[in-house]
Amino acid sequence: MNTNIEYLGLKLKSPLIAGSCGLTANTDNLCRLEEAGAGAVVLKSIFEEQIIYDIKRNTHVYAPVGNYGDSYEYIAQHVADDSVSKHFALIREAKKRLSIPVIGSINCFSYENWLTYARQFQDAGCDALELNMAIMPFETSLSTDDVERTFSNIIQSLKKSIDIPISIKVGHYFTDLAKFMQQLSWTGIQGITMFNKSLQIDVDIEELKLCNADSLTYPGELYNTLRWTAILSKKLRCDLCATTGVTDGNDVVKLLLAGATAVQVASCLYRNGLDYMKTLNSQLQQWMERKGYESIDQFKGKLSMRPNDKASMLMRTQFMNYFAEIK
Ligand SMILES: Cc1cc2nc3c(=O)[nH]c(=O)nc-3n(C[C@H](O)[C@H](O)[C@H](O)COP(=O)(O)O)c2cc1C
Repeated sequence: MNTNIEYLGLKLKSPLIAGSCGLTANTDNLCRLEEAGAGAVVLKSIFEEQIIYDIKRNTHVYAPVGNYGDSYEYIAQHVADDSVSKHFALIREAKKRLSIPVIGSINCFSYENWLTYARQFQDAGCDALELNMAIMPFETSLSTDDVERTFSNIIQSLKKSIDIPISIKVGHYFTDLAKFMQQLSWTGIQGITMFNKSLQIDVDIEELKLCNADSLTYPGELYNTLRWTAILSKKLRCDLCATTGVTDGNDVVKLLLAGATAVQVASCLYRNGLDYMKTLNSQLQQWMERKGYESIDQFKGKLSMRPNDKASMLMRTQFMNYFAEIK
């Protein structure tokens, strides 16, 4: 039996990928994940805000008060280069020490920086890029068209400027999620990663202020990922990498049955440690053995919708089954 798959045109020994998070920001962790059977790793994202923060912090110390002028520009560029070069050192070291694919991750907000970092990540040796495009429709002035155009513009430009495979990591917040994911898959990208986790906001009722909610996902979040994986996997012209809500090997099996090409995990590694990757892999293999499957291809997408199926009918039937108990 083997668990080999092809994802973004790369050969992986397992469909299990360590998703981008704090755990994938140092090479010792990455090596442990490889030893525990990860098929690939997605490095912690480089955030444009983080670079800008570094620039502000450092220029505050060095810049002449009130008159930054050319020296400010010089220092700002130097700090940006320094932040970015730390990230490139991670990529280069990871490439040196790992034999599994290393996927870089970028999260920017300005058009130019998507392009700049993508080129630099490619030059630093990443096997593929995951673009964490967390463009949220927060502004009342922002229309669906505006959001979707931003995605298209960035992707089109990136396709022209880099050669390594690209996956787009998206959130749920699209008016026309199914249609737009299909359109994205037609742009020549190699994969879509569904879904990103947006930071949740909570309220501190003692201090009367906003605060961050727990950043780890909880098991029930799997069902949304499962639904959209089943609906979209056979309608996309690229790979679909499922993420959010995986807690054990059975969840991995479910997502593969729903048609995911690969599955990313983060929260369960925080909760159970990096070696949990080994447990997830062996639970997947035990299930395959129990069911008599020799390879992932034999069962991948068995429970996904077919390209011409109407998702609305399927969901309606499930709804009726549940509430009216008709079978
Ligand atoms: C602490 C933490 C940090 C994360 N940092 C990033 C990040 O830098 N870039 C990114 O694309 N996703 C990031 N994520 C999201 C994960 O990659 C993943 O998509 C999400 O947590 C859902 O998977 P899970 O249910 O297995 O946690 C982070 C998640 C956690 C829990």
